[in-house]
Amino acid sequence: MALRRIAVHFYELNRAMEIASFIRSLPKAELHVHIEGTLEPEMMFDLAARNGIDLPFATVEEVREAYEFSDLQAFLDIYYRGAAVLVTEQDFFELMLAYLERAVADGIRRAEIFFDPQAHTERGIDFSVFMGGFADAIDAARERWGISAGMIMCFLRHLPGDAAVDTWNLAAPFVHRMIGVGLDSSEVGNPPEWFAEVYARARSAGLHAVAHAGEEGPPAYITGALDTLRVERIDHGVRCEEDRALVERLVRERIPLTMCPLSNVELRVFDRLEDHNIKRLLDRGVRVTINSDDPAYFGGYVLDNFVATVEALDLDRNDIVALARNSIGATFLPDDEKAALLEELAETGAALEPGAPEPTQNEKG
Ligand code: ADE
Ligand code: ZN
Repeated sequence: MALRRIAVHFYELNRAMEIASFIRSLPKAELHVHIEGTLEPEMMFDLAARNGIDLPFATVEEVREAYEFSDLQAFLDIYYRGAAVLVTEQDFFELMLAYLERAVADGIRRAEIFFDPQAHTERGIDFSVFMGGFADAIDAARERWGISAGMIMCFLRHLPGDAAVDTWNLAAPFVHRMIGVGLDSSEVGNPPEWFAEVYARARSAGLHAVAHAGEEGPPAYITGALDTLRVERIDHGVRCEEDRALVERLVRERIPLTMCPLSNVELRVFDRLEDHNIKRLLDRGVRVTINSDDPAYFGGYVLDNFVATVEALDLDRNDIVALARNSIGATFLPDDEKAALLEELAETGAALEPGAPEPTQNEKG
């Protein structure tokens, strides 16, 4: 009996490793990661010591134990406190470089990365400090590992729309280093319509637009983000399912959803990963993608999110390739770079799976 259990254990271990290496080998994009959410406890301690900042924790283990969240707000309170250890240009450089190195290890070829300027300017840190560090790290990572990355500046929605406009004005000298704007922080009670003005300015400056919507907030926030902010992707969007017409619209207009399965379980959006709606939406033809959100806080980077979701929802290889394809298709890369990555994905996916069936509807483009 014991032997049989051990044999089953090794079979499952082997299978999990095979799935992980298949996923790792596929070219993929990460489209929903907050750079401040990649601050690992070890780096938090190092930076706090370097900058003479007191932390309310004695050890790295204590930090990890504190990562029990009842909802989004409980997480955000800890997240903003963690971000306060970032002070110098070197700190922001190291944070970005560490994330990009980790992303490369997961087979990420393109990352479109959120940052929260107001979490830093409110503490007296100048735009030039974090933008300089981020931009240098992105350039260094491209040179060292060939990864392509772009930055998306998020406005904090728990602050007024006017504060977002002030932030936009401060950002003017650095807009050329950004690919888009986004909206994050406490969702419920802070509707997208409050940010119409700043999004209009960003769009007319040629930036792309995305927004968190339907994570904890109602489907009306997804509709508001699409209609008022004119966003091209929805971050999370899990609650779209409550509005049938909205799901049909997402399919028809091919709006990508940047979903974050481990985050949704950690923040109690779903009780268990088995309850997540990503597979149902994929099967309905919604352009869903898998991302990590705040990997240092939620127990996993992109590959961890993929592996856990594949196991919990019994995704097959076609689903996995479809998710990778959706991620590349939903990037803001120029068409020729997108096409090159998609072609590589088609070759890799096919080479690794002899006799694979034709791509499903979800995989096309
Ligand atoms: N900021 C960092 N992570 C976030 C999330 N999951 N939702 C909203 N704002 C965030
Ligand atoms: Zn997020």
